[in-house]
Amino acid sequence: MGKNKQKIDFHSFYHDLFPERWENLKKALLKEPVKSAYMKGLLKPYYLDEASVMAAMALDVQQGDTVLDLCAAPGGKTLILACQIGTSGSLTSNDRSSLRRNRLKRVISEHIPDSIAEHITVTGHDASRWSLHENGIYDKILLDAPCSSERHVITSPEHLNKWSPARTKHLAIQAYSMLVSASEAVKINGIIVYSTCALSPFENDGVLEKLSRKRKGRFSILHPEFPFGEPTTYGWQILPDTEEGHGPIYIAKIKRVM
Ligand SMILES: C[S@@+](CC[C@H](N)C(=O)[O-])C[C@H]1O[C@@H](n2cnc3c(N)ncnc32)[C@H](O)[C@@H]1O
Repeated sequence: MGKNKQKIDFHSFYHDLFPERWENLKKALLKEPVKSAYMKGLLKPYYLDEASVMAAMALDVQQGDTVLDLCAAPGGKTLILACQIGTSGSLTSNDRSSLRRNRLKRVISEHIPDSIAEHITVTGHDASRWSLHENGIYDKILLDAPCSSERHVITSPEHLNKWSPARTKHLAIQAYSMLVSASEAVKINGIIVYSTCALSPFENDGVLEKLSRKRKGRFSILHPEFPFGEPTTYGWQILPDTEEGHGPIYIAKIKRVM
């Protein structure tokens, strides 16, 4: 009974958010995620969703850039950033979870040539407190925030049972504090890509809307176009109902202007 009630809550919550799309979205979320081999510059292929590749590519990292990946484990996007900095930049790949950080280190050592790996530092700090220690340092920051991961929740009776509407609101608050921290750690004129695999708009445009409101004039929101997906008010989303199973991925790109 309790379990059924929770299930109805999850479905009705998302039905309210996506009234026209929820039935198709639900079917798409229940299918196996679509992953393909990413190889560019790697010692061996790494399998990830092309929509996740787009999130990492959106940062537009150039050789020589000083880059921070604030929530990096298990490391798919960090591999892409690492190959882009090449042998002249630096990449700090951070994750607070020691278990996931061990996996991140393994992923890096198995996929990245030594000449690039020596430019990567793996750290284990709280992303939301990063700017207490470093301010105005990085050319580019990726914040791939911990999020609702509805695709995972909907296929897991255990997670579905624990789910409540408070979860997305809590995650949105956490993501906002990480984004504020990133926005101080990046250099003036530096770029931040904020991404999630959440469906919930609270964790996506909601976070950007709050930043625009509370830190008015300090950033410009860039609106890059991507090969697939759809624009949102502040960013871009790829949802699996319309994109052949890819996503959910949300991508927003901002520039610090002061
Ligand atoms: C969406 S996953 C990142 C996926 C990763 N970017 C990739 O492409 O493989 C979010 C990560 O954030 C980490 N995390 C959660 N809270 C954190 C915090 N306060 N500071 C730093 N990392 C955190 C989690 O351990 C998790 O590995």
